[in-house]
Amino acid sequence: MSIAHGFRTIGVLGAGQMGLGIAYVASLRAKVPVYLVDKSPVQIQKSLSLMDKLLAKDVSKGKLSEQEAKDARQRITVVPEEQGIEGLKDVDLVVEVSNLNYAGYKLTEGGQAATENVNLKTSLFESLAAAVRPDTILATNTSSISITKMAAAAIPKGETAASPKGKASAARVVGLHFFNPVPVMKLVELIPALQTSQETLDRARAFAVACGKEVTVSKDVPGFISNALLMPFINEAIMCLEKGIGTRDDIDKTLKLGMNHPMGPLQLADFIGLDTCLSIQQVLYQGTSDSKYRPSVLLERMVDAGWLGKKSGKGFYDYE
Ligand code: CAA
Repeated sequence: MSIAHGFRTIGVLGAGQMGLGIAYVASLRAKVPVYLVDKSPVQIQKSLSLMDKLLAKDVSKGKLSEQEAKDARQRITVVPEEQGIEGLKDVDLVVEVSNLNYAGYKLTEGGQAATENVNLKTSLFESLAAAVRPDTILATNTSSISITKMAAAAIPKGETAASPKGKASAARVVGLHFFNPVPVMKLVELIPALQTSQETLDRARAFAVACGKEVTVSKDVPGFISNALLMPFINEAIMCLEKGIGTRDDIDKTLKLGMNHPMGPLQLADFIGLDTCLSIQQVLYQGTSDSKYRPSVLLERMVDAGWLGKKSGKGFYDYE
């Protein structure tokens, strides 16, 4: 099949909310066959039924024909559980999804230190790089972890950062940061590692554009542009609540009605997940030593309590 972006097949590693969203836009908009991997069959089934619902809604609204929806769904293949990442060995691009809970590794459980997450993530990336073809582009959807570190993890055992094979393997790694909900949010942040080649960058951009997204480029700094700006904003709102400057509802209402934000910062924190917010803030704080990124005590305590926002049924708000 001839496709403008040049990818014949892609893999999505991690079928949570973000992974499903990426698989959805890749299949529907970029029209590329997608191989979906997750260790949890329950998660896969949940995601596929959500995809069916999204497609059915778009058909009922006249945004898609029945045939387009059917084709999009048929382009998704679930990799059998026993194959895992080996099932991606022939794809042209893998998007590794950074919900930090890929494939049963509960990386953020109990507010675990972000540095531990980094180690788990890089070891996952190391296995991925070894499982796929040497020319497969490896994109990571991480929200905050160093892409340069992920690229270094892609260097095969026995090679070095300066050897031809080592350099080529690291050069195919790039950050491709999607936003939740992926089908709705228009942006993808593109983050070159120090090692990323121009070809990798151009191809990753072409993929994001084919998925219907606008692209911005950020240097590989903690949090990139998006979270270096968003997380202090969310944290400041939590500290406003902690200090009693305003009630939950007044803080959110101020930003929603005064600044036209679609969600107030506390509602948005719940939507992202309080454990995810904490984990990103820890990466920002540890990566910069700048006190402006220090997570608020209230956020830490809420994560300690297991109040993780919308996904756990309780955060700043209660959910059914
Ligand atoms: N998946 C797919 N589509 C969804 C969706 C989801 N999870 N949630 C909502 N939608 C769709 C709806 O189906 C609806 O589509 P139609 O127009 O075709 O009917 C459309 O979005 C609008 O939805 P609603 O009317 O139900 O609700 P809304 O107008 O209040 O919009 C929202 C919901 C899009 C989530 C909006 O509140 C919003 O933009 N919130 C801010 C989201 C945000 O900031 N996201 C970024 C988080 S940061 C991040 O992701 C990265 C990181 O590193 C932390």
